[in-house]
Amino acid sequence: MKIAPSILSADFGNLADDVKKVSEAGADLIHCDVMDGHFVPNMTMGPMILEAVKNATDVPLDIHFMVENIPFFIDMYKHLKPEFISFHIEEEKHINRVIQKIRSEGIRPAVVLNPATPVCLLEYIVADVDMVLLMSVNPGFGGQKFIPSVLDKIKELRELAQRKNPKLLIEVDGGVNDKNAPLLKEAGADILVAGSFIFKHPDYKEAIRKLKCE
Ligand code: DX5
Ligand code: ZN
Repeated sequence: MKIAPSILSADFGNLADDVKKVSEAGADLIHCDVMDGHFVPNMTMGPMILEAVKNATDVPLDIHFMVENIPFFIDMYKHLKPEFISFHIEEEKHINRVIQKIRSEGIRPAVVLNPATPVCLLEYIVADVDMVLLMSVNPGFGGQKFIPSVLDKIKELRELAQRKNPKLLIEVDGGVNDKNAPLLKEAGADILVAGSFIFKHPDYKEAIRKLKCE
């Protein structure tokens, strides 16, 4: 199980320090939530903030766009060379075109589903992406309650991936903690995003170790 701490819950007054600490604690990816105040009712980090984050760590970035006008945002953030860029399919009419745009920059493309968006919409997309991010809260804020129906969605997506893209990575984001991590692992998740559980824990290393369920 890989763990991607979401820096949305980090201390923004000491962001570089927190990113260094969580990297040394064993983070596999640094999850960066980019919100535009339109797709979701919150605004977070522009490219200058993420440049500072990138300079503070060697751990690859995992950028989660919660934005309208996705191609515009890809152009604004692509120089950061993240490992993944993920975008919400609820927002995009030309999903395949955007996937190709991300890949053409040498970045691994991923699509995101809100809790109410069904897995069947991925039938003709899943073979073209490296990862699917399933939201287990409605996006916009850290510290929300986990929505358990994501467990069935993970199983359904794993079955679809078996047929169409066996190497697909499944990432889960929202309300992840040490109680639901074993259930998410059993359901077939590969990567867990966690914000408040890690950054509110007194010991980041211990928090990450718990989420890995080893
Ligand atoms: C929510 C974000 C999440 C958020 C998770 O819109 O996509 O990445 O930071 O925070 P927790 O783990 O506190 O739910
Ligand atoms: Zn996120």
